[in-house]
Amino acid sequence: MEQKIPQHVAIIMDGNGRWAESKGLPRIEGHKAGVESVKKIIRCCMTKGIPCLSLFAFSSENWSRPAEEVNFLMELFLESLRKELAELNQHGIRLRFTGDRGLLSAVLQQQMREAERVTENNEQLILNVVVNYGGKWDVVSAAKKVARAVQNGELAIDDITETSFAHYLDTERLPDPDLFIRTSGELRISNFFLWQLAYTELYFCEVHWPDFGEHELEMALASFNKRKRRFGQISELI
Ligand code: FPP
Repeated sequence: MEQKIPQHVAIIMDGNGRWAESKGLPRIEGHKAGVESVKKIIRCCMTKGIPCLSLFAFSSENWSRPAEEVNFLMELFLESLRKELAELNQHGIRLRFTGDRGLLSAVLQQQMREAERVTENNEQLILNVVVNYGGKWDVVSAAKKVARAVQNGELAIDDITETSFAHYLDTERLPDPDLFIRTSGELRISNFFLWQLAYTELYFCEVHWPDFGEHELEMALASFNKRKRRFGQISELI
């Protein structure tokens, strides 16, 4: 039977800290190993023809972690971007970022803009890195933008539809995810994409993110392939 390929896979990369602790290592070692999994999964998505991958790298709630860990993560994002940008670009990957950038350091914001600019014409894979993001923040900021557009006379109230509203979300014109994956055993959405996951197939697995590789992605895709997506209708009408 022909394999269905999800057009957008969104992942909560959970369990870096537990992975490290289980090996008697400091938590930051788990985040370093997490970067290696990010690279593996980008390669797998390209091989399998998945055109869009969103990775939840830092939630708006993650600021309450110890300053040392937050600083390490911010440095890791910056270093990874600096180090990998040329190669990502060579492979035709388009980078984009979702989330509230205002609280990130000026140098990280600059590197993000640069990565988006350099890769803007690439078409092999959209790699959407989700940083300082919360699903409720996204919906509230979209509502504010819609309110301003109405106030300025750019949008009529009757033209606010599910489709037009979605364009004000920070994911703008990305397709909604077909498949959501969360590693490390937690069965929650944790304020990740709330609007965007309305009809997404959800997949949870026990392995920690640094142990998530090609085999685990294939298991997720096999599970996705067994799902009957009805979008609220009955099967005969789809
Ligand atoms: C969750 O594990 C992971 C994070 C909060 C950070 C994710 C970051 C990476 C994988 C590194 C690099 C990413 C990019 C895009 C370069 P956790 O710390 O919550 O683990 P725990 O639940 O076991 O404590």
